[in-house]
Amino acid sequence: MKVEALPVVQGDFNLSNYADVAKDFDWEQAWKSLSASETGRLNAAYETIDRHAESSNKNKVALFYKDANRKETYTFYDMKRMSNKAANVFQKHTSIEKGDRLFIFLPRSPELYFALLGALKMGAIVGPLFEAFMEGAVFDRLADSEAKVIVTTPELLERVPVDKLPHLETIVLIGEEIEEKDTIIDFKKEMKEASPYFELEWLEKEDGLILHYTSGSTGKPKGVLHVQQAIMQHYQTAKWVLDLKENDIYWCTADPGWVTGTSYGIFGPWLAGTSMVVLGGRFSPDTWYETIEEYGVTVWYSAPTAFRMLMGAGDGLLKKYDVSTLRHVLSVGEPLNPEVIKWGANVFRQRIHDTWWMTETGAQMICNFGCLPIKPGSMGKPIPGVKAAIVDDNGEELPAYQMGNLALEKGWPSMMHMIWNNPEKYDSYFLKDKWYVSGDSAYMDEDGFFWFQGRIDDVIMTSGERVGPFEVESKLLEHPAIVEAGVIGKPDPVRGEIIKAFVALREDVEPSDELIADIQQFVKKGLAAHAAPREIEFKDKLPKTRSGKIMRRVLKAWELNLPAGDLSTMED
Ligand code: WTA
Repeated sequence: MKVEALPVVQGDFNLSNYADVAKDFDWEQAWKSLSASETGRLNAAYETIDRHAESSNKNKVALFYKDANRKETYTFYDMKRMSNKAANVFQKHTSIEKGDRLFIFLPRSPELYFALLGALKMGAIVGPLFEAFMEGAVFDRLADSEAKVIVTTPELLERVPVDKLPHLETIVLIGEEIEEKDTIIDFKKEMKEASPYFELEWLEKEDGLILHYTSGSTGKPKGVLHVQQAIMQHYQTAKWVLDLKENDIYWCTADPGWVTGTSYGIFGPWLAGTSMVVLGGRFSPDTWYETIEEYGVTVWYSAPTAFRMLMGAGDGLLKKYDVSTLRHVLSVGEPLNPEVIKWGANVFRQRIHDTWWMTETGAQMICNFGCLPIKPGSMGKPIPGVKAAIVDDNGEELPAYQMGNLALEKGWPSMMHMIWNNPEKYDSYFLKDKWYVSGDSAYMDEDGFFWFQGRIDDVIMTSGERVGPFEVESKLLEHPAIVEAGVIGKPDPVRGEIIKAFVALREDVEPSDELIADIQQFVKKGLAAHAAPREIEFKDKLPKTRSGKIMRRVLKAWELNLPAGDLSTMED
């Protein structure tokens, strides 16, 4: 792999070290802000875009945008002007001030990026929403955060219960022939008239940046707030983990409604001055391969669910396209099954690099970075400066190979700063005032590599044995008939729990009792007798989140006839 030796941050990965990193990279504003004097300030949008627009990167392409109807490119200079215009539109027509919440409810389009950056220039906290959210999901997020402004389209506005949101003052619409009113602004028309110059708001490092709502296994979605200083880690990991270099063409397939689509679909790559591809519209294996070919994508960040779909689409399709420009491929969001890594290596001709992190961590934490060897099935190691450990429920560190809570020593730059309106929830993440506890279970091997086992609540206890659902799912995926698998523990009077698997079959395979027996044997032989699913149910499709995670809690709710909880993040 073409990766330079890793720069190692001496000592802890804390803000004073980051000031050094920032100084090295000539982030004057950021550095001032983080240095001891505390005199300087920063603005994430300035560092992301304007800094390049004022450098020799000025006319470098920042954004290659494409969907079924549009194909456009914007340089860093263009992005600066368009985001300045957006900021002027908001300044003129809304009451947004520093720290106020502005939500963006849009399909991926250049306007989404102009609006988001423009709002950041004003010092607003931006809440990005997936365009597929239905009314209830939109309401929960806008109500909880007391959002003042929403930027959306006339079609999506139907899902914004305006009358039930007393704090919502202004609706900015992106569409054709918008009838402007006091509270309704025509974005395109106003953008045409707006000035491309804007005096942006300089902020403190702990001022708000992005508010991402994420759902847990219980309760309503929680608002995870990230602050300005998070960009330090976005930038550093864009270099260390994404390995972005001067001439890369980078594509992150995630939507900004998900943290991956902001941390690594806006901040990381643009902080590094990299040209980025954004593809609008829905997933299809054809258009994805085509996009890599068309733009000559070199670095690609996607998710296991997408890789599995490409795998399912067959080698024949891949052969139609030239994807030889790719040099670095990464994955996030759920465990990367060894089977997928094998496909990557043999068919796709790429080592797929796993990266583990969470909405709450704000940036990559445990990764297959740089020159580390890849151990298929392992998420890799903590990035330099991050300390990860497996701890018990009292926060005591466990030895190698013992399964427990995956925890991180708190204090990394992109760590969430609060759960909106819910300090108790925030506090509940920490143990002994030292460990951030992720809610994932994992173990560490003797080389310090971490191996994901499942969400803590998902771990199955069957006849006294702890079984990680991921391991069973990975084995199931190796079976030639299976394309997707979700595994849960089903209560059982004798065994505590038994393993139940939900599987989706390849199109040309019919379900049968023989197939069930064959799959059970396959897991018994390949993994362990106690890990073989006693029950197997066939499904056309498994319930997944928009970021591609199999929703085991939904499978469990189906199985037990219980309410499935918050479904706002489920794909259609
Ligand atoms: C899971 C995603 C295994 C994990 C940026 C975590 C992963 C949750 C991986 C966070 C990975 C994410 N291997 N599991 N490489 N990456 N997860 O907040 O359970 O959408 O706690 O953020 O996804 O999901 P979130």
